[in-house]
Amino acid sequence: MYLFTNDYSEGCHPAILAALTQSNRSQQPGYGADTFTAQAIALLQAQLADPTADIHLVAGGTSANLLAMAAFLKPFESVLAAQTGHICVHEAGAIEATGHKIEVAATADGKLRPADLAPLLAKSPPFHTVRPRLVYVSNPTEIGTIYSRQELTDLSAYCQANGLLLYLDGARLPMALTAATNDLTLADIGRLTDAFYLGGTKCGALLGEALVITNPALQPDFKYHLKQRGPCFPRAGCWVSSF
Ligand SMILES: Cc1ncc(COP(=O)(O)O)c(C=O)c1O
Repeated sequence: MYLFTNDYSEGCHPAILAALTQSNRSQQPGYGADTFTAQAIALLQAQLADPTADIHLVAGGTSANLLAMAAFLKPFESVLAAQTGHICVHEAGAIEATGHKIEVAATADGKLRPADLAPLLAKSPPFHTVRPRLVYVSNPTEIGTIYSRQELTDLSAYCQANGLLLYLDGARLPMALTAATNDLTLADIGRLTDAFYLGGTKCGALLGEALVITNPALQPDFKYHLKQRGPCFPRAGCWVSSF
């Protein structure tokens, strides 16, 4: 019997389990200082063609989202999202619980475009409303559509021109990047966003997501934030041994 309620109904890909068994007794320092984590980060940096990308391995998607947004935003700054966005409909208010309002745009296909964002920026007066600062998208979107290179390029340019950060939730990014109509690469995603995560949990790994921070202004001290909020694994990265 197959359960179609989600795409993580089994443990993980057998090759991952085999690699875990093989690496299980290897003596390693904890808290991400192990050789497997270093290897995974180097592989991702190579795929991104960005040796300066700051990469953190975290437990799950909700955790990646709230960690990133809580770290990147000032208390009075908001998140802009499509009203169907995962953070709006499936995370039990996790982002709002960090103190940040989510402002939504209704979009027909789950994607956000500059025209959807403009009305959200046209609010007045300043100081009396939250300040829009971070644009949240996921690829694929919550309703299964994917961004083209041109669409993400336009969104990225609009964000840059308007002082907005672009954050991409990649819980199922491997599915988007391997879709028949896709024309984006992982390196494009890194180049066009300020931060994103590459999902593992929904894509065959035992667990975990790789949060990638490409904007150097957002990188300092993220490790402190991670440790303070809890998801800094003490054990040597348990999902990276076959990454
Ligand atoms: C796009 C997206 N983001 C985040 C999440 C949340 O991930 P998790 O269930 O690991 O917290 C999901 C879960 O399905 C998702 O589809």
